[in-house]
Amino acid sequence: MHNYADKLESKLFKTVADVCKNENVNCFVIGGYVRDLIISRPSKDVDFVVLGSGIKLARKVAEAFGEGIRAKYFKNFGTAMIQYDDWILEFVGARRESYRWNSRKPIVENGSLSDDQRRRDFTINALSISLQPKDYGELFDPFNGLEDIKNKIIRTPLDPDLTFSDDPLRMMRAIRFATQLGFSIELNTYKAIGRNKNRIAIVSPERVIDELNLIILSDKPSKGFKILDETGLLKIIFPKFTELKGVEVISGKAHKDNFYHTLQVLDNLSLKTDNLWLRWSALLHDIAKPVTKRYEQGTGWTFHAHEFIGAKMVPGIFRELKLPMNDRMRYVQKLVQLHLRPINLAEDIVTDSAIRRLLYDAGDDIDDLMMLCDADITSKNDARVKRYLKNFENVREKLREVEEKDRMRNWQPPISGEVIMETFGLRPSKVVGIIKTAIREAILDGNIENSFEEAYKYMLEQGSKKGFEVKKIIGNQEGTPS
Ligand code: CTP
Repeated sequence: MHNYADKLESKLFKTVADVCKNENVNCFVIGGYVRDLIISRPSKDVDFVVLGSGIKLARKVAEAFGEGIRAKYFKNFGTAMIQYDDWILEFVGARRESYRWNSRKPIVENGSLSDDQRRRDFTINALSISLQPKDYGELFDPFNGLEDIKNKIIRTPLDPDLTFSDDPLRMMRAIRFATQLGFSIELNTYKAIGRNKNRIAIVSPERVIDELNLIILSDKPSKGFKILDETGLLKIIFPKFTELKGVEVISGKAHKDNFYHTLQVLDNLSLKTDNLWLRWSALLHDIAKPVTKRYEQGTGWTFHAHEFIGAKMVPGIFRELKLPMNDRMRYVQKLVQLHLRPINLAEDIVTDSAIRRLLYDAGDDIDDLMMLCDADITSKNDARVKRYLKNFENVREKLREVEEKDRMRNWQPPISGEVIMETFGLRPSKVVGIIKTAIREAILDGNIENSFEEAYKYMLEQGSKKGFEVKKIIGNQEGTPS
């Protein structure tokens, strides 16, 4: 028998155990917390299964924790939640059926501990630890979950067709756990995903995307995407992404398989950042390659403007996948659009003005963009990789130089629309924007200096070309008339 009493030493478990003793109810720690305890993965989310009312016990536990601690109830689901320091404790009565995972239907039937364990998703998540004085810390493991943890295996406790039909999201969870924990999915369970894949459609997209994001946030996301693809789930949940697959050959010339290339970029980037949205930028950077692909005689395969078209596709993809339609979406869009710029700069002779433009366009996200571009180098030709990386170093050096000199990051042109309107007595109109853009472009091109005085002079010239009269001379912020 395995006993984990020494691992449940925290005051928290003792308090719950004391309350159970006083109330004369049996209660067990179950699920992810037990799994993580065994694999020494720190966790502060604890699930308790109660042979009785989870809500009633939670209320007593909250009282025992003292002042200010309250239990929140979800009556329909028969669950209660307590926040205690940075711990989240969930209490649920043991159930015979597993309605609570997926449906709005209230739970009806009480069950025993083993009823509850058998309706859970995976053997590694069905382990429980007793909190009763007679066997405190003892492991209850009816499905050999411990063995599966040791052998790194994801397996359903029951026939997988049954476990997956209880909650089809579990197919995504199987792949997510395999990716997060570096486990393999047992063959029978794996095959059942292929058989049941279409049932994923009944799960809300929000729950599906939460799992997909956890896969993306894993150390090696490509593993999850390959399983999603092989089981056929990917085509259902994110069909656009599977269109990247495949290689075409014309006149002996092949292009690379953009599906595997993209996954390689994502893995490369994952070694450097936990930023989910930067990882999404990697996933989507070449998303328009299938629609822009052409074979041109003499040149070979081209994907003209795939960065612009890709950026245009981002909002639609975010909307469909129920990802946030806010500044995060715009960030991904921007990185997709700019992802070729540093590479192009590395190949051309780099001018200050090209660097200034890149700094202006990327703003604060320039370091993220450079990280994405580094990750995008997936050539198998070592000499080529070396050359790219060296050129990139030059671009980085130039970026530092120009940034230091011109402070272009988050730069705003020195002349505002208000100054233009006041000077020429104009109302807000298109022409104000045209003059403003002309000033910005002149500075970015290096034709005039980045100062109020130079920009004002240039503005007066632009205005006079358009036949505007000067109504008022405006000073710069310090109040010096120009
Ligand atoms: N569970 C399940 N089926 C689901 C969701 C959850 O059987 N569709 C059970 C599993 O026993 C799981 C437990 O409920 O261990 C808690 O679920 P959850 O908090 O979502 O997952 P964890 O296993 O705790 O893992 P993580 O915190 O990494 O999501």
